[in-house]
Amino acid sequence: MRNTVRDFQKMKADGVPITMLTAYDASSARLAEAAGIPAILVGDSLGAVVQGHEFPIPVTLDHIIYHASIVTRVTTTSLIVGDLPFMTYSVSPEQALTNAARLMQEAGVSAVKLEGGEFIAPTIQRMVQAGIPVMAHIGLQPQSVYQVGGLKAQGRDVDSAKQLLRDAEAVQSAGAFGVVIEAVPAPLGEMITKRLEIPTIGIGAGPHCDGQVQVFHDILGLFDAFIPRHTRRYATIGDSIKTALEQYRADVESHAFPTADQSFSMKKDVLAALESADESDLPIESH
Ligand code: KIV
Repeated sequence: MRNTVRDFQKMKADGVPITMLTAYDASSARLAEAAGIPAILVGDSLGAVVQGHEFPIPVTLDHIIYHASIVTRVTTTSLIVGDLPFMTYSVSPEQALTNAARLMQEAGVSAVKLEGGEFIAPTIQRMVQAGIPVMAHIGLQPQSVYQVGGLKAQGRDVDSAKQLLRDAEAVQSAGAFGVVIEAVPAPLGEMITKRLEIPTIGIGAGPHCDGQVQVFHDILGLFDAFIPRHTRRYATIGDSIKTALEQYRADVESHAFPTADQSFSMKKDVLAALESADESDLPIESH
């Protein structure tokens, strides 16, 4: 049985820290689930780590549906949350309802995530009333990168910290089942976590959030464009892959690969018949 948003909330109630990780394909999703990760986010961070864009703006709903349907296909227990991309939910509540429904029906996710606080709360309320589990995302909102002028930490002065508290309260009141808090000072992450009943999932929001979310490629050292401050590298898989690929190339160039172990044999009589055949019976001329 797949984890549900209720299990997610029970983890906060029981004081069990929640681990969340992004995944975008069959291999990463299988590995995340095998590692016991209870919740997987098919995030629009795929724009950077899969598609090679600088920011998530070019990611479309069809892209997320494509990747999320792979992740739901190969997992059975993790809660799968699909990200609603830039401008797929802020035009109107109707647009948000329609696109969230596509993500749930076509990709099979159990919940959707969207960015925004007070401004988007009425939309969250409509979605929740319609039966769509919604995870909010406040603090640094990468889809607003061009408005904010970069991927900058938020809530560092009194006014913006108070706004973040209002945002957190608004999304909870609207019915969000959880909230991602990105790139805010740790004491503010703690303050929000203590004031909310729903789980807070931090990414660069300090150790006191109810859970943490990280990008698969960041923690494994698969993404080298930059290392976000909020990331801890648990492996340097990118370096291992590069070393392996260099060895593969060297083996091909030196004829060390393939050997008989990686080759298919042929029965002696078949080979003898081929070798003694008249050249005119063979379609390709030997050089
Ligand atoms: O798109 C994403 O992966 C995210 C997480 C980093 C929170 O929004």
